[in-house]
Formats: sequence, structure tokens, C-alpha cells
Amino acid sequence: MSEEGDAVRRHYESETDEDGRLRGGLGRLELWRVQEVVRRYLGAGPRRVLDVGGASGVHSEWLLGDSHTVHLVDLVERHVAAARDRLGGIERFTASVGDARRLPVADASQDAVLVLGPLYHLQDRADRVAVWREAARAVSPGGVVIAMAISRFASLFDGLAQEHLFDPEFRAVVDVDVASGRHENPRGRPGWFTTAYFHRPEELVAEATDAGLDVVETVGVEGMAGWLGHLAPRLDDDVDREVVLEAARRVEAEPSLLGMSPHLLCVARRTH
Ligand SMILES: C[S@@+](CC[C@H](N)C(=O)[O-])C[C@H]1O[C@@H](n2cnc3c(N)ncnc32)[C@H](O)[C@@H]1O
Repeated sequence: MSEEGDAVRRHYESETDEDGRLRGGLGRLELWRVQEVVRRYLGAGPRRVLDVGGASGVHSEWLLGDSHTVHLVDLVERHVAAARDRLGGIERFTASVGDARRLPVADASQDAVLVLGPLYHLQDRADRVAVWREAARAVSPGGVVIAMAISRFASLFDGLAQEHLFDPEFRAVVDVDVASGRHENPRGRPGWFTTAYFHRPEELVAEATDAGLDVVETVGVEGMAGWLGHLAPRLDDDVDREVVLEAARRVEAEPSLLGMSPHLLCVARRTH
């Protein structure tokens, strides 16, 4: 495992609650918007879905609820064990420890491959294209690969939202992030994330294309609302929640605003 992989693994082995992140606060906006976009492509029938970087199964859970068969792959044993504890009783669910660059599944064995995490932890382009290639190998012709990226400008906007940007050390991190996409947190400062790569939207499209996939669309997941923490309680109210979701939908495909969204989803199809 590379140093990069070690840092990522240490981060997720120790301090994070990947499950809780999407089940409360503003994280719910990310969860619901990912559901919307993924459901657009899975359609009604039960599908075989590979959840790569699936962590403790927050997406696998609702995919199983939608009647799909799900195999989860994650780098971190703690996550895979938690997913098995929670979902292992469901016959249509399996999970294994593995790396997105070398997926432990047969060629063309999946109807859809979700890559919601690994791509933004790989700083070398060749590694990211390898992830896309593996997903393209695993999915059957006609199937979709849906991958998530973090916006190039995420630490700048998060720095404003959380006020880390008033710390000169954080501003130095942001300078590198915005210029190169390569994010580091060598002193392990809480809330400053871990080793990552922050994409421009067009880079995502180019990576998928280089892997032989046809890009269908790139969408902003949360839009501007993803930075507005004070909106979190609004998500408890059905009417207000819909207003926030609609605001995200309204600009999801607006090219001039894609980089404003904390997360991007790139949907690509294997055509042959
Ligand atoms: C921020 S979490 C995302 C979890 C969940 N998929 C979601 O969308 O909320 C990133 C996940 O990707 C996993 N991961 C990172 N690099 C990976 C790799 N090269 N192969 C497989 N999993 C990886 C991490 O262990 C972690 O569980």
C-alpha cells in the first residue's frame, strides 16, 4: 500500500463516522441527492450493484431496500465489518475488503458500479483512471458507472463556512488545493480531512473518457446549499426540505456552477 493509501486508511480506521455523516445534519442533503441521481439510472428492475468505497454501507442499505443485489468493496476492514454486521443478514448483500484499482469481481458481472469515495483519495491521475477502468471492466455493456468527486474549490468554500480560512496554515493548504487539486493534512488537524484529490468537473469527464466510457452527465450534488450549515434544521421539515432539494436540482447541470457544489457525480456508460 502506498503512503497515500496508508494516510487514507489511518484516517478512516480511527476518526471518522461515515455512517453518521450522511444520516444527520446537512449530510442528509448529500445522501438524498445521491439517491436521486443513482435511481435515475438504476430504473425499476432489480440490478446487480457494486458499491465501491461503500464504507459501512450507508448507500448499500437503501439500494438493498430498492431490491437490488449489492456487493460492497472498501479498503478499510473496520468499515466492511460494520457493513456486514448491519446488512449481512440480507441474502442479496455481500462485502469484501479491496482496492478500487483492483476490484475483486469478474468482468461484466455488474449492472451498475458506484464509486462514491475512492476517486477523491487518489492523487495520481493514472490511479484514478485505473479506478475508472476497473469499474468499466466490472460493469456489463450498457451498464453505468457513477463516480463521485470533491470539487476543486471545496476547501476554499469549507474554509469560509467553518471559518478555518482565518487560520494562515489553512490558507496555505487551500493555496495548494486550488492550484493543484492535491490536498494534504500532514499534522492531522481535526476537520481538515485527509490526503485527497479535488477535481475540476472537466477532469472527471476526461478520466472517464480515457477509461473507454461514454460520459452521460456530470451533476453538482448539493449545489450552494452544501455550504450553508444553518439550513440543516430545514431538512427536518418536509416542505422546507423540498425547497432545499429543488435549489440543488435547479443548478445541478449548470456548467458555470458545477465547481460550487461540494460534491460532483459523473455518470458514464459502458457502450460495448
Ligand atoms: C468519504 S468515504 C465515502 C463513503 C460512502 N461511499 C459515501 O458516499 O458516503 C470514502 C470511502 O472510500 C474508501 N476508500 C478510499 N480509497 C479506497 C480505495 N482505493 N479502494 C476502496 N475503497 C477506498 C474509504 O475507506 C471510505 O470508506
